[in-house]
Amino acid sequence: MNVLILGSGGREHAFAWKIAQSKQLQNLYIAPGNAGTANCGTNISLALNDFDAIKNLVWEKNIDMVVVGPEDPLVNGIHDYFLQDEVLKDIPVIGPKKDGAILEGSKDFSKQFMIRHGIPTARYQSFTSETLKQGQAFLATLNPPFVLKADGLAAGKGVLILDNLKEAQQELEAMLVNAKFGKASATVVVEEFLKGIELSVFVLTDGKHYKILPAAKDYKRIGEGDTGLNTGGMGAVSPVPFADEDFIKKVEERIVKPTIDGFVKDKIDYRGFVFIGLMNCNGDPYVIEYNCRMGDPETEVVLPRIQSDLLDLLQGVAQQNLNEKSIEVTPDTATTVVLVSGGYPGDYEKGKKIDIQSAGSDTLIFHSGTSFSQEHVVTNGGRVFALTSFGKSISEAVTKSFRQAEQIHYEGKYYRKDIGRDLMS
Ligand code: AMP
Ligand code: GLY
Repeated sequence: MNVLILGSGGREHAFAWKIAQSKQLQNLYIAPGNAGTANCGTNISLALNDFDAIKNLVWEKNIDMVVVGPEDPLVNGIHDYFLQDEVLKDIPVIGPKKDGAILEGSKDFSKQFMIRHGIPTARYQSFTSETLKQGQAFLATLNPPFVLKADGLAAGKGVLILDNLKEAQQELEAMLVNAKFGKASATVVVEEFLKGIELSVFVLTDGKHYKILPAAKDYKRIGEGDTGLNTGGMGAVSPVPFADEDFIKKVEERIVKPTIDGFVKDKIDYRGFVFIGLMNCNGDPYVIEYNCRMGDPETEVVLPRIQSDLLDLLQGVAQQNLNEKSIEVTPDTATTVVLVSGGYPGDYEKGKKIDIQSAGSDTLIFHSGTSFSQEHVVTNGGRVFALTSFGKSISEAVTKSFRQAEQIHYEGKYYRKDIGRDLMS
């Protein structure tokens, strides 16, 4: 098979690395890719929302399957575009159509979906500029902290958690009336705060059947001890020790099954990954959010733990016979540590020369924001690498990731040195 992966982050490098191992693979293309994906296949430069350019590429390279990494092209309808095109309509796209991607594209929609299908989630109401006063009154009925969520995509910045009622009421106004997050906050979800520990569960579905993939915990804040600004993710661990068999059984019965049944009932033909952000509240799982794609950096610990042929599983999604496939997962622990550019998640410089030493290391070096400049690998983004290692324990795995982190050099390198520490017993 000839496969095209869309995206350019660590997630897409992990996909490329895993798919490149498939016996069914002939040629692998990554668009636009990064300096790391170039080792797994051929990078092709294009803009992810230029669907016509993607069509030409698929045609030219005889692509048999398209795997979509990030949410943007899915929310913008790349799968629908394929289905509506005479040339492309039979080429499987891994990732939902607009009617499924809206689970990530609209928080109001996803809350309605959860309520409609009896899926546990925080109590909420949605408001617009016309109902600002009601929204402020609703806030006054809740206990702090207060959770405000812009309905639309806001590059991961659209959620505010505030301790003070007055401030929450002012922020609600700023979001609804002053377009704090642009169009994304024209509607705002106000919800109850859930107290607990977060984790993510990933599901692969062909619309009828599903496979639960390994769970992972992500470290979102820039600073050690979960302090400072939110980032795309500074590290991840899989498996998550507190997500034992009993807990995952609850997730499957209370959340995964009703989600997949919900797709069927709502006539959403969902083919792809569902990323379920969960809160473990005293042993009971509640959904915080759905995403219509895999997580980054969670993918960099989830895929390396899967021993089965990923392309074969994705074929099961395309042919709707995922129930006939099996999925093998190593019980070993995988950890990933993300190296970022100095200044991230604020302003940072690109184009810093990178020197990588990896002799004697079995750590997987997934590139995120890297590119080539005159044959040299240089930084090209906020998150630069995700370094994934295995071990019998979190501590064993993460020690290897940290050791590799010391062997990569570029100006401004930063990483969190406490990844996994909270989970070590
Ligand atoms: P989201 O974009 O929905 O994932 O929200 C971003 C982050 O805000 C989540 O990863 C949680 O840490 C936090 N969060 C969102 N909703 C809630 C909630 N209802 N209770 C507690 N924390 C929340
Ligand atoms: N790591 C969180 C995300 O991919 O959304």
